[in-house]
Amino acid sequence: MTQDELKTLVGQAALQYVVPGEIVGVGTGSTVNKFIEALAGIKDKIPGAVSSSQASTERLQALGIRVFDANEVGELAVYIDGADEIDGRGHMVKGGGAALTREKIVAAQSRQFVCIADESKRVEVLGRFPLPVEVIPMAAAQITRHFAALGGQATLRMKDGRPLVTDNGQHILDVTGLQIRDPLGFESTVNQWPGVVTVGVFAHQKAAVCLLGTSRGVETLVY
Ligand code: 5RP
Repeated sequence: MTQDELKTLVGQAALQYVVPGEIVGVGTGSTVNKFIEALAGIKDKIPGAVSSSQASTERLQALGIRVFDANEVGELAVYIDGADEIDGRGHMVKGGGAALTREKIVAAQSRQFVCIADESKRVEVLGRFPLPVEVIPMAAAQITRHFAALGGQATLRMKDGRPLVTDNGQHILDVTGLQIRDPLGFESTVNQWPGVVTVGVFAHQKAAVCLLGTSRGVETLVY
C-alpha cells in the first residue's frame, strides 16, 4: 500500500471515534484531509466541527460541515489529528503544517486525542523530525540560543522567500539535533522561554489512541 492509501485507511477508521450528536475536533494535514473527506459522509449525524487551522476550516466548509469557534462550545468528546512523530507512549511531535498552536488548543479542549498516522511516523525517541516551535518574531534569536545550549539547531521556516507567517501571525522555528527523552519535562521547559508561543511536543496533550496505518492494516494503539 502507498503512504497515501494508508492515510485514507486511517482517515476512514477514525470515523468510529466520532460521537453522533457531538461536535468533533479536527486537526490539520494530509492525513486529516482524508478524515475530513470521510467525515463528509456522516455530516448529518454531527452538529459540526471545531477546526485547528484556516486550511481545515476551508475544507470542512467546502464539504458542508459547519465550523464552530472554539469559544462557542464547551469540552469536545474527541479530537482527531495527525502527527509528524509518535513514540511508544503516545507523545507526539506536531506542527509540520504550522498549525501546532491551534492544534494544541483544540486538543486541550477535548477529552480524547485520537492520532491518525501511517507507520513511518512511529519513533522510539522524539527528535528525528525537526521540532516545530511557534515563536514571537522578536524572540527568535534568543530562543535559537536556548536551543543551541541543548544541542539543537533552530532554523526559521520560510515560505516563498519570506518567513512563514502562521494563522496567529507568528513565525516557526524548526529545530534539528534534539533527542527528546523526557517529552513532558522538555515541553514544560521550552514553554517557559519568553517568546515561545507553542512548542510542537505534545506530551501534556498526548494521544489516547493511535490508529496506525501499516501494510497489515490499521493497528489500534491505546496509551
Ligand atoms: C500540522 C500537523 C500535522 O498533523 C502533521 O504535520 C502531520 O501531517 P500529515 O498528516 O500531512 O503527515 O501537526 O501542523
